[in-house]
This record gives sequence, C-alpha cells and structure tokens, in this order.
Amino acid sequence: MASDKILPKLFEFVDKNAESYKQLLKEAVAIPSVSSDAKYRADCVRMVHWTQDKLKELGATTELRDVGYQTIDCQEVKLPPVLVGTLGNDPKKNTICIYGHLDVQPALKSDGWLTEPFELVERDGKLFGRGSTDDKGPVLGWLHVINAYKAIGEELPVNLKFVFECMEESGSEGLDELLMEKLKPEGFFDTVDYVCISDNYWLGTTKPCITYGLRGISYYFLEVECAKMDLHSGVYGGTVHEAMSDLIYLMNTLVDKDGKILITDIYKSVAPLTENEKKLYDTIDFNPDAYRDSIGAHQLAHKGVKEQILMHRWRFPSLSLHGIEGAAFQPGAKTVIPGKVIGKFSIRLVPNQEPEEVEKLVFDYIHKKWAERGSPNKMRITAQSGRAWTENPDHPHYQAAARATKLIYKTDPDMSREGGSIPVTITLQEASGRNVLLLPMGAGDDMAHSQNEKINVRNYIEGIKLFGAYLFEVGKLPK
Ligand code: BES
Ligand code: MN
Ligand code: MN
Repeated sequence: MASDKILPKLFEFVDKNAESYKQLLKEAVAIPSVSSDAKYRADCVRMVHWTQDKLKELGATTELRDVGYQTIDCQEVKLPPVLVGTLGNDPKKNTICIYGHLDVQPALKSDGWLTEPFELVERDGKLFGRGSTDDKGPVLGWLHVINAYKAIGEELPVNLKFVFECMEESGSEGLDELLMEKLKPEGFFDTVDYVCISDNYWLGTTKPCITYGLRGISYYFLEVECAKMDLHSGVYGGTVHEAMSDLIYLMNTLVDKDGKILITDIYKSVAPLTENEKKLYDTIDFNPDAYRDSIGAHQLAHKGVKEQILMHRWRFPSLSLHGIEGAAFQPGAKTVIPGKVIGKFSIRLVPNQEPEEVEKLVFDYIHKKWAERGSPNKMRITAQSGRAWTENPDHPHYQAAARATKLIYKTDPDMSREGGSIPVTITLQEASGRNVLLLPMGAGDDMAHSQNEKINVRNYIEGIKLFGAYLFEVGKLPK
C-alpha cells in the first residue's frame, strides 16, 4: 500500500472496531489491580498475565521479570512481576520503548462513585471506571493499534519494546533496579531510539498536548509514639503528652495558608525562571476558570492567574498533607487517645531539587521543630523519593508526535509539563540515553485517582489513532 494510504485505512479500521476496544477496556477495568493493598496482589498478578497474553497474541516475545518482595505492615509480600516485551527487530526501523502501568488506585462505590468502579459503564460519551484513563485505557491503546496495523495487513513502521508494570501507584518498587541493573546490562536498551509514555492528560478538555516534564515526589512518614497501646481519654486525658497533638503540631509547621512551604531553604535550589521560559507560558491554551469549575473548587490559589497556576503546577515545589494512620478516622464520637500515629505528607520536586538534599532539609527542619516542642514522646521520620524529569521538546521526536497529533485533532498541540509524577520516567531516560516524551490520551477532567474516573470515548478512540499516527511518524525519522 502507498504510504499515504496506510493511515486512512488504519483509522477506518479503528473506527469500525470501537466496540471491541471498549469491550477489552471493560475486561481490564474488571480486574481490580490495586497495588497499594496486599489483598489485591493476586489481581495485580492476574492483570499482568492478562496483558501478557494480549501481547503474545500480537506476536510479541514476552517475559515476566521478578522484582522481589516488599514489606507492608511488617509482612513480606511478593511484588507483581514486570512484563517486558519485544515486537520486531528490523535493523532498518526505529525502535520505540513504551512504558505503561497496569495497577490502579483503590476505589469503593461508597467513596461517591455513581456506578461500580470496577465495571466500565458508558454514559454521555464517557467510559467510567477505575483505571479507564490511568492507565489501562492508554496501555490498551498501544495493543489495539498494533492489532490494527496487523489487521489491515501493514507492517509496523517501528520495532517496539514494552515495559508494563503493576506497582506505579505505589512507587514502582523494584523497577529502577530491574531497568538499571538487569535490563540495561542485558542490552535491552541497546536498540532503543525513543521512549514514549502515555500516562497523563491534556491540560484542559479540548486542546491536545505533548508533555516534556514531570515533577518528582518526596513522600514522608512522620511517626509519633506516646504509648504501646491506645489509651482511654477518660482515664489518661490531661495526664500524658499526646502523640496526636505532637503530630498535628509538626504537620502544621510545614506549609502556610497560601501554599508556601515553610521548610528552611526549600526553594533555594529550584531552577531560576529565565525570560525565555517565562515566555513559554503565554501561548499555552489554559483557562483557569474552566479548570476551577472542572475540579469543583470555589477559588484557585495565586489569584487564579494563568501563568502563576501553571508555574506552580509545573516548576515550583508544593507540599500536601495526605493523612494520619492510627487516628480514629471512623465515624462517631470515639474518645480514644491514639498511642501511635503516622502523619503522611509529600513534596512535589522540581528540576534541580535533588531528593537527598530535600530529604535532609525536611529532616533537619522537623528535628528542629521537635526540639522546640520539647515533647517526651518518640518521633521518627522516613522518606521515599523520585526525581523530577524534563526533556528537550525541540527534538525531532516531539515534532513527529506533534505532526501525529495535528493529523488527528487538526490543531497544533501545546508543549506542556505536568504537576504529577511518574518516577520511572527519568530512569528510562538515563537507561536508554534517548529522548523521552509523554503522549497523553485522556482529557484534563478525567479525574484520575478520584471518584467517577473516566475517559471520553472520543479520547480513547482518537487516542488509538493518535498512537498509530505517532508510530508512523517516528517510523519516518532517520535511523
Ligand atoms: N498518571 C499519574 C501521573 C500523573 C499525574 C501524570 C497527574 C499527569 C498528571 C500516575 O499514575 C500517578 O498517579 N503517579 C503518582 C506517583 C506516586 C505514587 C509516586 C502521583 O503523581 O501521585
Ligand atoms: Mn498513571
Ligand atoms: Mn495514577
């Protein structure tokens, strides 16, 4: 087939098979592969096997790589294997390494879902279900488009390598070591020319984008212990230094009401804003009011100024408080005094902020505040971190992705960054030494991690075509 006929043919096939793509997403969503809860570990493993079978059907060579154990609540739990695959090894073709994750955030109907979270439901042109946009829809998108090329009798324009894991939502345990200490020495990355990840979203709801930066994350566990067991307030209240009071005191020293982080020197290493970078924000298609409405907030920080909102999402660190383990969070008046509580918070890291340096600033600050508090209780703080990632968007790889995007959505994509984190991105960049890009499938209002997560039918189906066009465009880049 003449090369200008391939994509129209491919797109026609994709449109015709939309129902079967929805059906497969339904199957994937029905597997509750929640990585944070040991109870669902078997489902995570099942999800990896399910995907492996699909990859094999497409003709890929696959391997399940063991990455050892993790400790949850003092228990050793086996990590789900990482699915590694290869499809094609034509030395004349470019090779793309694709990463995606098969695990999801927890979800309960009682959290406020309108429908069962693990049952994909179509309503108003949207497919609701946990993992629909983060990240099962995009991962399946790759499988569908490979299938589509085969079905229309066309060779894939590139060779593909796959890394699909099932622990991303829980910090990608074991993955860095697998990539750097096993796959890289074994030569897995030797033939890789480009890396592509589809695990993020458009900034808004209509304008497509290509993403060249992610923030890192430094996650903290702050533990205060006053007694071996919980105490009864009627007996002990007023006679002990309570762990919960100490913890709330510490947690309240971290950030002010405007979101400014109070940790000494935390902004010191943040990359300075250059005039050139400042200009980049002008042309980005982003409407703060629509964004505010889409998340249901009453008011945005930074006076809702577009450039400020984007900068605080992309290039400045932020600190969020997440929860307290051991506190009596169940409904009802409970007069317990918790014996031990663990406060959880995280800082999103940005370029030039090294995790070790940030961790030290946080530890020093907390220890200083703890000394000021003068409590007789025991305090301990630990951290787990992943670095920020940015890439050069003035690269032929990004231009290829931009051409593909324009072909599908008839408009030039914005070059965006993200406030979220995918810790393995920088590892893939370093392991391959190649240009990495994020090619989003979903829209900015998909509500990943939240109740009623969805992907628009349009984003899913056009996204499959986008992936097809992207493979085609990268296939045309010089070897
Ligand atoms: N898909 C997200 C990453 C993301 C979030 C991209 C927001 C774009 C916008 C990913 O699945 C995720 O949730 N990452 C975690 C990482 C953490 C568990 C280490 C995150 O960002 O909270
Ligand atoms: Mn994700
Ligand atoms: Mn996620």
